Amino acid sequence: MTRWANVIGTGGYLPESIRSNRDLSQMVDTTDEWIYERTGIKNRHIAADHETASSMAEIAARQAIEMANIDPQQIDLIIVATGTPDRVYPSTACLLQQRLGVRNCVGFDIQAACSGSVFGLSIADQYIRTGFAKTVLIVGTEICSRIIDWSDRSTCILFGDGAGAVLLSASEQPGILATHIHSDGGYEDLLYCPNPQAAAAAGQNEAGHIHMRGNEVFKVAVNTLGRIVDETLEANDLQQSDIDWLVPHQANTRIIAATAKKLGMDMEQVILTLENQGNTSSASVLLAFNEGIRDGRILRGHTVLMEAFGAGFTWGSALLKY
Ligand code: COA
Repeated sequence: MTRWANVIGTGGYLPESIRSNRDLSQMVDTTDEWIYERTGIKNRHIAADHETASSMAEIAARQAIEMANIDPQQIDLIIVATGTPDRVYPSTACLLQQRLGVRNCVGFDIQAACSGSVFGLSIADQYIRTGFAKTVLIVGTEICSRIIDWSDRSTCILFGDGAGAVLLSASEQPGILATHIHSDGGYEDLLYCPNPQAAAAAGQNEAGHIHMRGNEVFKVAVNTLGRIVDETLEANDLQQSDIDWLVPHQANTRIIAATAKKLGMDMEQVILTLENQGNTSSASVLLAFNEGIRDGRILRGHTVLMEAFGAGFTWGSALLKY
């Protein structure tokens, strides 16, 4: 008997403070028009000083628990995807476990940059299929604003803060149908964030900021996401028309539009949060999924294709029946 990973709850959190394109145009040499035309972004949320990856994760996780209507003690695995952890260790998953007061479970972080939530879904699916776990909480949580060089107009316009969560439970009914994940460290120089301590130990003076060759990242992302769509449809014997919703990583409207075109979808079948959230890295797919479910677009029985691409490079897809 196949054990499937079913979605039983979702949650999302965005910090209160909003930074608009107009605000950014006071900080660097840019305009609202340039940013919106090239990226599709108008606003992004910025965490307050007291907020951390784990505090935002807790809010998103509690929403998912409430929607699922379960006792948090049932959670037996917590996976947190983040590139901006509160501490090097303990893991943000352990800090979240403590915040939620969940005792009998195991928690760990994963680092797959913007592909973090799709990688998290893939890992959770394996644990549920093998019977190791029954109820798994996955959270993508990011305070990108703390690793951005706010004087660099080519990167500071793109990113925002937030957390997205999903709760999965073992079931005999189909849930996650398949996941496909990949990485290629050969592209490390196109998109990276140094660890300043490690850099200093190696005699380099590098700040812990996002460095990106945007134009090159853009091209690889479009091609790679096109390939992951083909791979996912072929491996699962699906036609484009079998997919009800595309829930993409929210990096750039033009990248998302290229993926939708590849799927023969119009943009009405794509859950887009980018305009008012920017790129929230590992949180973005789960934030969009949560939005699509809570506003009633994604319904039980719908087939959803999630995809993501990020530093590494890492990329992947998760195909699921909601
Ligand atoms: N405002 C105004 N001009 C800007 C600017 C800004 N915020 N940022 C860059 N520019 C300028 C550049 O300096 C360059 O000027 P030049 O021609 O005088 O040298 C010009 O705009 C074109 O730069 P380019 O980098 O080629 O622009 P682009 O069309 O590729 O758009 C990005 C830049 C970053 C929006 C785009 O490359 C992108 O979205 N890439 C993918 C990034 C991404 O998704 N990363 C995360 C992956 S998970």
